[in-house]
Amino acid sequence: MTRINNNFLKLPGSYLFSTIGKKIREYEAAHPGKRVIRLGIGDVTQPIAPEIIGALHTAVDEMGRSETFKGYAPDLGYEFLRSVIAEKDYRARGCDISADEIFISDGAKCDCANIQEVFGTDNRIGVQDPVYPVYVDSNVIAGRTGLYDEKKGCFNDVIYMPCTRETGFAPVIPKERPDLIYLCFPNNPTGAVIKREELQSWVDYACENGSVILYDAAYEAYITEENVPHSIFECEGARECAIEFRSFSKTAGFTGLRLGFTVIPRSLKAEGVSIWELWARRHGTMYNGAPYIVQRAGEAVYSEAGRKQVREQIAWYMENAGIISEGLKEAGFTVYGGVNAPYIWLKTPKNMTSWEFFDALLERANVAGTPGSGFGPHGENYFRLTAFGGRENTIEAVERIKKAF
Ligand SMILES: Cc1ncc(COP(=O)(O)O)c(C=O)c1O
Repeated sequence: MTRINNNFLKLPGSYLFSTIGKKIREYEAAHPGKRVIRLGIGDVTQPIAPEIIGALHTAVDEMGRSETFKGYAPDLGYEFLRSVIAEKDYRARGCDISADEIFISDGAKCDCANIQEVFGTDNRIGVQDPVYPVYVDSNVIAGRTGLYDEKKGCFNDVIYMPCTRETGFAPVIPKERPDLIYLCFPNNPTGAVIKREELQSWVDYACENGSVILYDAAYEAYITEENVPHSIFECEGARECAIEFRSFSKTAGFTGLRLGFTVIPRSLKAEGVSIWELWARRHGTMYNGAPYIVQRAGEAVYSEAGRKQVREQIAWYMENAGIISEGLKEAGFTVYGGVNAPYIWLKTPKNMTSWEFFDALLERANVAGTPGSGFGPHGENYFRLTAFGGRENTIEAVERIKKAF
């Protein structure tokens, strides 16, 4: 008899964004004529920059000629993309990372979900709370956690590291020792960042304890302040204890094109085994690479014109973040984030639960956001809005919220 992977049954209800989508659809069906502004899901709205589209067109034409046609991509990604990443994202910032330590993929979500496969199921994971749900759920599916505790809103046998307003929404090194430590900065959902010295203390801790840090830097391009590390490899010793995930999704609007990469230093070892070797084996066995045309588009992100256009887009989203933050502050809300990340993390008024505020916002302002509790128990009484909406929608959403609360 065929048996299923019972771990799937530990996952509570539907995925956060499916629940939100369903609630919005139900509201719209019951209130025809009302226009809901969605500032919930973190998807971009600006078209791909012209320089990148140009590269994409050229690559498409290459695919149509026998002399330049490309079949399967090399296992770990095209050299032209890996070298430009190593040069511009790492060596230019003083990080000792070489092209062959970069694994190209179709996005950071898959990579940060799949990476746990190279580690034993008896490792304990430590996650920030609130947290991007993929880290926890992928480990649940792999059997690395206990059951879900409805009352506490978290899984047993996972080390949740609270990120509170008191700690600037950064985690504190926990008493229990995690083997795999997930850190995400700039953070989704709180928009918080970590200072270089603080990140260094995590790297020191991981090196001393023989833990591995899985560092998600998907929003690196949104950093505006000094002394905020763009990569964990800016820290001394990180080559011995860290893996980094990056994405082109929010950096260059590739959510629909799909491109990302993972950096695994050759010197990273666990039980004396090279993690690079294990991930290369996994990549080669289970993955056939991001499309050539998309990798060429990725390369164009690093060209002079591409960089300029992409930076302008990011600055434009960050203007949205400013509009939301300032508007909400004027309306009396307590607001965090929005300075080095496209996320605004607000305290719900009158101590409403996150879902109570979701419903009230939908009803009273016809604006949809994301309840903080969906990211973990310490997200309760908080709410996430994103800066990815169009300008008019963002302005209108803020005006509606001001009137409604
Ligand atoms: C923290 C974080 N990591 C990774 C991702 C996924 O990125 P990608 O589109 O490259 O899969 C997201 C997307 O929202 C994210 O918020």
